[in-house]
Amino acid sequence: MKYLNEVDIKGKTLFIRVDFNVPLDRHRHITDDTRIRAVLPTLNYCLEEEAKIVVASHMGRPGGKRVEDLSMAPVARRLAYRLHRKVKLAPDVVGPEVDELKKSMEPGDVLLLENLRFHPGETQNDPEFAKELMKGIDVYVNDAFAVAHRAHASVEAVTRFAPVCVAGFLMRDEILYFHKAMEDPARPLAALIGGAKVSSKLAALVNLLKHVDKLIIGGAMANTFLKAQGYSVGKSLVDDNLIDAAQEVMDSARKKGVKFYLPVDVVVADRLDPRAETKICPVQEVPDYWVIADIGPATVTLFSEALQNAKTIIWNGPMGAFEFDAFSRGTMAMVHKVADMYALTIVGGGDTDVALHKAGEFQKFSYVSTGGGAFIELLEGKKLPGIEALEKWAKRKRA
Ligand code: 3PG
Repeated sequence: MKYLNEVDIKGKTLFIRVDFNVPLDRHRHITDDTRIRAVLPTLNYCLEEEAKIVVASHMGRPGGKRVEDLSMAPVARRLAYRLHRKVKLAPDVVGPEVDELKKSMEPGDVLLLENLRFHPGETQNDPEFAKELMKGIDVYVNDAFAVAHRAHASVEAVTRFAPVCVAGFLMRDEILYFHKAMEDPARPLAALIGGAKVSSKLAALVNLLKHVDKLIIGGAMANTFLKAQGYSVGKSLVDDNLIDAAQEVMDSARKKGVKFYLPVDVVVADRLDPRAETKICPVQEVPDYWVIADIGPATVTLFSEALQNAKTIIWNGPMGAFEFDAFSRGTMAMVHKVADMYALTIVGGGDTDVALHKAGEFQKFSYVSTGGGAFIELLEGKKLPGIEALEKWAKRKRA
């Protein structure tokens, strides 16, 4: 694919697709603007080149109609603050009024479109809607890695209508770091995978086994593996229909010579509640009717030692129900341990980067992906439509 710095953008009108799907509280205040800060290098570069910048994103899932609570207004204010310049919020995404606004732009102007998903054409990958989006646009820049797994109009179909299509700097970094970790890693390569459900990560685990030297499983998804090994896990969350699949992952790891690790002790609670009664026990002694809520201290030691000699570490998913302080120790301890390791450390997935922020260690990781679903799909070995579309455009240009 072509990158932003390889094309002439001076004075041109750019359409920059970003992912500003940021979390809001009930007063519609942004609670974490990591995704906005992540595209500032791209936006500032374009401003220095005196381009006219049309920025577009989705927010939430409004279902193809206008939902005021999902307006981009809070984002426009935060973006203006981060860019130290005026950001105009367009009243819509396409249409005569928006076309007029685009036409009247001067170099250095920033126009933020309303929520792309206010129009049904966005999620339907509608070519007519894509054509409208590209009206008056000289260069399309995709810097929205976090939505690259969606074949939506502003991600995929637009590349058939824009005169020039390039990846922004965030997209470039996401792809390069992932490639460095999975395709061409310094070894040993270890993956630390947590989170709630095996079902959402089974395909990723199967694909990871083709690449990694060590696979470490924590979080509630470890319960299914423990059950497959014959341990009783009380009332813990288990993917009962995936016990055989979990066993196959462990068998496949053995056959491939991939070292495989599960928790050896856990924090159990009589219910998943901050006021619950809790204790630490070996995995062989989980009480009936209790739930596993976190990994225990012996597991933190085991996992840290397993990671100690790794030169590349990929981490996705927390080690327990870390949103409750009482069950956050395992995840926090692993954040501190991995942060201090002499390895390339790549973290992906919404919850995991929240844990890094909570532990105050975000800056110590080599790369923290802005993608949730997109990062998982890369782990699964899938081609992402947003990346493929940019590659196809570059191939058509070369032909
Ligand atoms: C995300 O937050 O993972 C992306 O913005 C994609 O959102 P979606 O799952 O609603 O497509």
